[in-house]
This record gives sequence, structure tokens and C-alpha cells, in this order.
Amino acid sequence: MNIIEAKDYDEICKIAANYIARQLIAKPCSTLGLATGSSPIGVYDRLVDYYNDGLIDFSGSYTFNLDEYVGLGRAHRQSYYYYMKKKLFNKINIPRDHIHIPNGLSKDSDKECMCYDECIRARGGIDLQLLGLGHNGHIGFNEPSSKFSGGTHKVALSDSTRRANARFFAEKSEVPSEAYTVGIKTIMQSKSIIMIVSGRDKRDILSRVINGEVDPRVPATVLQLHPFVTIIADKEALSK
Ligand code: GLP
Repeated sequence: MNIIEAKDYDEICKIAANYIARQLIAKPCSTLGLATGSSPIGVYDRLVDYYNDGLIDFSGSYTFNLDEYVGLGRAHRQSYYYYMKKKLFNKINIPRDHIHIPNGLSKDSDKECMCYDECIRARGGIDLQLLGLGHNGHIGFNEPSSKFSGGTHKVALSDSTRRANARFFAEKSEVPSEAYTVGIKTIMQSKSIIMIVSGRDKRDILSRVINGEVDPRVPATVLQLHPFVTIIADKEALSK
């Protein structure tokens, strides 16, 4: 694992955006794996700046988001589709049909998951995957479990994840109890991965991810096995 210590959140975002920009400049038809949550917001802001400055062009790129809540439609303000449109897609020149996010309203979950994996495969896999880190070690919505997951699947969200994400909803009871997520195998098949982690509240879990045993009960520990992972974290998150 390559670990970069940034001085603060702003520097994390700059470094992560530079990785993505470099990927797009080197390979304009790159397939990017994208994340939601609070952590990537500053990364997307910077990518929009780079795009406006003419440094990067998204017209040939493809994106696959990690996850989506089951039961939320694309127009729902807390859906990840809505988040991505607002924070990034509406501000750049990516063709709409190059954007992929699981459909939270799909009537056929198995088909939804199969098609998602098939689409990623058809693109030749993810070139660069951006990840955040959940407080219980989840990546995407791959919650702690007795074994690592395979491809895209439907998950029941843990109570701690629903509590953590309640801040985006009026109340916790509104947080969906299920989500679609790409699997650990899908994430591990990415050619390279960057994980961004900020803040003191992530120090315990980040320490386990870096120093602990590889263990599906802390899903992000699997990243120790990937040869091209870079963790970009601030001093606070790395303080343990
Ligand atoms: C959510 C998302 C994850 C994200 C995690 C951490 O549960 N599904 O993809 O990485 O939360 O979010 P944050 O960056 O807000 O701490």
C-alpha cells in the first residue's frame, strides 16, 4: 500500500483529483469508479475546476458508481444519482449514456446486478477506482461480513451505516435499509485504487485497515492485497 499523508482535507482532495486528472490525460477513454459520501465532494469540486480550466476532458470517459440505495429513484434528493448529477455530472461534459449508477427502483434486483457487472466487464474493467471509508470499514456498501463479496449485489445496511448516513436525511427512519453495491471482487479487479480518508473519527478504522489482519469483518483490509492502492489521508486520520 502506498500511503500519502496530506496536511488537511483540502490537500487530500487536490492529490486525489490529480490522480484522476492524470488518468484522464493519459487515457481519455478511461473507466472511472466513483464514490459518494462527504469525502469525495472536494475532489469533484477540483475536477470541475480542472475541467473549466481546459485541463481535463470527460467526453470519452465512462463512470461506474459504487452504490445506490434500494427504493430511491434518480430524482430523489438523497439518491446517489442525484448527488452525482449535482456535484459532478451536470458540471462536466461526460455523455449521459457513459454514466452508470445502479437503478434503485429496479424491479428485478438479480438482473440489475448482473447487467451492472456485465457493463463493467464490457468496458474492460475499472481503470481507477475512487473509494471512501465507512466507520465500520465498509467500502462501497460492502458491510462487515464473514466472507468477502463477489460482484454487484443487494445488501442490508448495518445499523451503524444507517446511523452515519442519517445526517443526509430528515431522520434515521428515512434511510433505506438496503442498497446495491459493487462487490469486493469488482473493486479488487480495478487496475488501480485510491482511497481518501479524512478526520480524527476515522483514525481507529484506518489504523485497522492499514495494520490489521485481512478480514472480511473489516472489508477495507482486503485492499492490502491489491498491488496498486494509494491511501490519501490527513494527519488526523493517520494519527493512530
Ligand atoms: C457511504 C458510502 C460509501 C462511503 C462511506 C463513507 O456509506 N456508501 O461509499 O465511502 O459512506 O462516507 P463519508 O465519506 O461520508 O465518511
